[in-house]
Amino acid sequence: MTKLSAAIGRIQPSATMAMSGRVTELKAKGIDVIGLSAGEPDFDTPDFVKDAAIKAIRDGETNYTPVDGTMALKEAIVAKFARDNDLTYTPKQVSVNSGGKQSLFNALVATLDPGDEVIIPAPYWVSYPDIVNFAGGTPVTIGAGAEQNYKITPEQLEAAITPKTKWLILNSPSNPTGAAYSADELKALGAVILPHQNMMVMTDDMYEHIWYADFPFTTIAQVCPELYDRTLTVNGCSKAYAMTGWRIGYA
Ligand SMILES: Cc1ncc(COP(=O)(O)O)c(C=O)c1O
Repeated sequence: MTKLSAAIGRIQPSATMAMSGRVTELKAKGIDVIGLSAGEPDFDTPDFVKDAAIKAIRDGETNYTPVDGTMALKEAIVAKFARDNDLTYTPKQVSVNSGGKQSLFNALVATLDPGDEVIIPAPYWVSYPDIVNFAGGTPVTIGAGAEQNYKITPEQLEAAITPKTKWLILNSPSNPTGAAYSADELKALGAVILPHQNMMVMTDDMYEHIWYADFPFTTIAQVCPELYDRTLTVNGCSKAYAMTGWRIGYA
């Protein structure tokens, strides 16, 4: 008999994967369904990306790399943050992982102790509470329905913070709602976080380039420079460049 760990007992099978499996099953039966589960872009990985990867493989770049990413990749990520987000990082501050999900997982497992609380605005991407539970933390959700455009208010955030709060997870634009925070809204949330010295922000910017709002994309470390040292900015190649299977995320 296999004895599974307590950590595994705290997580649920992925609802996204269960839904994707059901869609595949129904399609195989010839039923015309539209899958709205996994966030798979509707275009293919660009040819210049494919060509560069094929060239790298042919050139023999197939060995172990530094665990947290090659210097060339980290420098490209530093350039991306400077170009798109007015954020200055050094390669030492960058960690490349097997997808943004892995970046979030690593950060939460590395920082949560039993009883630490993580604030998650709802509706949320299904993985957040499971990763928090796996890491031994406690998810604390804040409900934000259609009447408030699926965005939490500074008052709601203040009310949810306790001495045990370690992280706020922000996801703008959001999966599943698409809701995006403006610079002023992020600044107002940042003002609430600032006095809580032990609290950090994990911003999941995975959908930065899938943008429908009539104001520009901003991220919290950019608009609240006082929180730079307490912000983990997570992004990746999956959604922006249709590279979901390549598993490249970074923080
Ligand atoms: C909100 C959000 N964050 C992160 C991810 C993970 O992306 P990656 O493919 O980089 O692991 C997803 C994937 O669906 C997502 O929806």
